[in-house]
Order: sequence, then structure tokens, then C-alpha cells
Amino acid sequence: MSTNDNGKKSFLTDLKEHPVKILALIYPYILIIGIGIGLFYLSKTNQVGNNLISPALIDTTTVQDLPLIKPSTAPAADIMSLSQPNDALVAKGKIIYTTNCVSCHGADGKGDGVAAGALVPKPRNFTSLDSWINGPKISGIFKTLSEGIKGSAMVAFDVISSKDKLALAQYIRKTFVPNPPEDSKDDLTDLAKKYKLSVGGQSSGQTAQGQTNPGQIPIKDAMVLVEQDSQEKYQKIIDVLKQISSDPGSGADIFNKVVDDKIKALTMLSSTDEWHNNEKVFVDLIVNELGQDGFNDKVHFLSDSDWDTFYNYMSKLL
Ligand code: HEC
Repeated sequence: MSTNDNGKKSFLTDLKEHPVKILALIYPYILIIGIGIGLFYLSKTNQVGNNLISPALIDTTTVQDLPLIKPSTAPAADIMSLSQPNDALVAKGKIIYTTNCVSCHGADGKGDGVAAGALVPKPRNFTSLDSWINGPKISGIFKTLSEGIKGSAMVAFDVISSKDKLALAQYIRKTFVPNPPEDSKDDLTDLAKKYKLSVGGQSSGQTAQGQTNPGQIPIKDAMVLVEQDSQEKYQKIIDVLKQISSDPGSGADIFNKVVDDKIKALTMLSSTDEWHNNEKVFVDLIVNELGQDGFNDKVHFLSDSDWDTFYNYMSKLL
């Protein structure tokens, strides 16, 4: 049988007779596609490794430091005005309730929050007047929040300010409690006396006591302060620093040249007065702990007269 006059036909016939040969035909294409897919994944490997999963811990190095807050005393909460119906207070109460109370008392105040299930006794159902212990008057709720209820999961909320406790009381009474009973004037004055609130704007003598806020300083400053072991010393160093920076003299020039960490250097020098009246001790102090005491190795280039100038200058300052 001749295959030369019709090569195409014989090729197809050949394939029909040996179907396995088709593999040889498509093999190069499979290879090319495979290499293509491989190259594609290789080019993406850096993305696969790159933060596709968000970190479980917050990177604290990028968290901003605490703002400076000056110590202050807030005026005592005035029970007479804060017990009057007040929409702003109710709105504030709602915010505090949502963050602190919903888990047990529920968003609808029915005592059915997610954490309520296992509790004995159950969180109070605010929508019923039954079986309250301190009661749903403002004075009752304030007492509950200040003292908690013994033998239950209802603990005292010391961190909530008096004003915010009154806001919570207003919110709970207005939103959940049906026909909440009113406080008498005596209820309110007794409450004010007991918890040192003010009555009718007049801070009633020794009884009214504002809430003191001790203030706060940024952590980095606090750490410097702790190193100083007293605020007085720290203030002195700051004063000296100011003086040096406004001083054009050669003593200040030398200081700026040989110091890397000004606060550290001044702290070291002010931590002892051994070097007062003794220039040699002064030089030794600085040179011995070089690098750790805030000074740098440029001190090695100071001439004797530079040292004299520097020593006299620092003696005058510290
Ligand atoms: C961990 C759960 C829990 C949280 C959170 C909680 N409570 Fe309670 N609360 C209770 C329980 C339990 C009772 C019932 C105590 C009882 O019956 O002895 C209760 C009772 C009360 C009562 C009724 C007191 C009375 O006179 O009987 C008030 C009012 C109250 N809570 C307010 C609040 C407020 C406001 C908050 C948020 C600042 C809050 N609770 C957060 C569990 C909780």
C-alpha cells in the first residue's frame, strides 16, 4: 500500500490505528501551558507572603502617645439640675449603657443580654417594676451603680463619674422603666449628702466634693521624669537646657559639640556634686562613661583651656 501519494490521509489513518500518538502531538502544548502557569505563580510569590492576613497584635510602636492632660477638679455634680429631665443627659446615658450594660441587661433593658444566660440572679429586667432591690428612682439607680448589689454579678461601677451615673439613671428610666417613680426632694438631698454631690448649684460646704482628675502626661515624658526621680530636678535640667540654648558663649558651644543626649548628660552631671570644685573629677566623670553618659568622643579633642572653659561654665550652671 502506497502512502506517498496521500500523506495527509495516511497520517490520519495512522493516528486512528495508533491513537496513543496523539499524546506526542499535544505534549509540547501542555508543556508550554504548564511552564506559563509556573512562571505566573513565581512572579506572584512576593504577594503571597505579603500581609494577606492582618496582624493579630497591634503594632504598638506606631500607636500615638498619650496627650498631656492637666490635673483638674471637676465641679461636684449638681443633683438638683442633673435629676431634671434632660435629653442631652439621656443621650449620653445611652452611649454609656451600650458599652457597659448591654451585655447583661440587653439592648431592650429586659435583662436578656448575651452574658445574662448563666447568671443567678438574673440581671434586672428594667421594663418591669417587680423585685427591684434599690429601686428605679434616680437615687436607687445611683446607689446600685455606686455600691453594686452584693451576691450578684451587678458590681459597683467606680470608674463611672457621678454625672455619668445620673445620665445612666435618666436613660434607663426614660427608655425602659414604665411610669418610673419620682425622687422626693429628701431622696435627692440624702443622695447628695451620702455621695458628696452638690445641691442646687451651691456646693454645700464640706459635703460637695468635685471629682478630681489627676491628669496625665505622655509616656515618653513620664519615663524621663521617672529617671529624674524628682520633678524638681527635671525642672532644673529643663531650665539649664534653656539657658544653654540661649547662650552664645564658648562654654555653651563646647557643651553642644561634645554632647549627644543633652538630658542624659545634664542628668549625669547633676546627679552628683563630687565634681564641683574639682576639675579633674569633672573630666573623669565625663570621659569614663563616654557614650553612656550622653557625651560623645569629641571630648578627646578638647584642649586644656577648652576643658577649663567648659568646667567653669558647667559649674556656674549646675
Ligand atoms: C455582668 C452583668 C451585669 C452588668 C455588666 C451590669 N449589670 Fe446591672 N445587674 C446585674 C444583675 C445580675 C442584677 C440583679 C442583681 C440582683 O437581683 O441581685 C443587676 C441589677 C441592676 C439594677 C437593679 C438594681 C435594683 O435596684 O434591683 C440596675 C439599676 C442595674 N443593674 C444597672 C446597671 C447598669 C446601669 C449597668 C451598666 C453600667 C449594669 N447594670 C451592668 C448584672 C449586670
